[in-house]
Amino acid sequence: MRSTAVAHPNIALVKYWGKRNVEYNIPAAGSLSVTLQGLETETHVEFDESLAHDELKLDGDPVGSGRMLDRVEDFLGLVRGYAGTTAHARVETRNNFPTGAGLASSASGFAALTVAACDAAGLDLPRREMSALARRGSGSAARSIFGGYVEMKPGEADDGSDAVAMQIAEADHWDLRCFVGVTAEGKKKVGSTEGMMHTERSSPYYEAWIDQVPRDIETARQAVRTRDFDELAEVAESSCLQMHASAIAAEPGIIYWNGATVELMKAVREQRESGLPMFFTVDAGPHVKVFCPKDHEDDVSSWLADRDDVMDVYEAVPGPGAHLVE
Ligand code: DP6
Repeated sequence: MRSTAVAHPNIALVKYWGKRNVEYNIPAAGSLSVTLQGLETETHVEFDESLAHDELKLDGDPVGSGRMLDRVEDFLGLVRGYAGTTAHARVETRNNFPTGAGLASSASGFAALTVAACDAAGLDLPRREMSALARRGSGSAARSIFGGYVEMKPGEADDGSDAVAMQIAEADHWDLRCFVGVTAEGKKKVGSTEGMMHTERSSPYYEAWIDQVPRDIETARQAVRTRDFDELAEVAESSCLQMHASAIAAEPGIIYWNGATVELMKAVREQRESGLPMFFTVDAGPHVKVFCPKDHEDDVSSWLADRDDVMDVYEAVPGPGAHLVE
């Protein structure tokens, strides 16, 4: 009853920001992402009848209380329900990148937990069902079950059974590079769950944002299929800015950016205009993710490393979905 899984974070090019059902954690619209190798979470799960409650260790440190533990316990409760067991679990998880800093650790975290916990509990679910289960932990985790280029469907069913991700292209279909430009230290102040729910409740732009998503998905899906970098650049930056605009317009507005975030977004656009192909995207934190084609990897990497406002750079490439390891 013990298993270990590895999962990679994914970065959304068309963003998920809003839920149609909170209980089942069903997104209000689709999203489209790339699963990224280079950054990873490894999670070990062991069910043990003698445990009185679930135990969690993150990067070697026991987590005794708080929202993260509550989310993991709720999720393990779902797995126990599916598997028909009452045993609690020992969970040990490690990230090779900072947790909770807008680098999508909940995506790789819950994707790795889904694969490891299902296997440890003796559940052999098809990928589609694993994606639906991972979604209950975190919406973006449903996408990290798959590798390469991934589309999340909002579905129609009340229980979210069709709100699942699917692969639209293999990782090697298009050799893009992703650089994470770290612009601040420490954890983000408003988590994604809280941020998107506050946006839905109070932003006058929320509905317009949700209406736009299907059009952006169509454009992005086509751009991925035809490997059209310029088209993907336009739609990804626009989806990112529209998501942030909806959050900024909430009351009170949520601003995830710092000064360096804004400078970097502007500089990326200037570089693209002057012929170096790259585009940005930003999630619920101040870091800027910069994508470029593989041929321009060295130029973009040294350009980012030379900037005073970039504290650290992580590099990633399209990679595999969540999987078991020995
Ligand atoms: C800005 O998946 O973290 O990264 O479902 O509430 O856990 P929950 O939200 P989460 O939200 C991710 C938001 C985002 C955009 C994206 O990844 O699509």
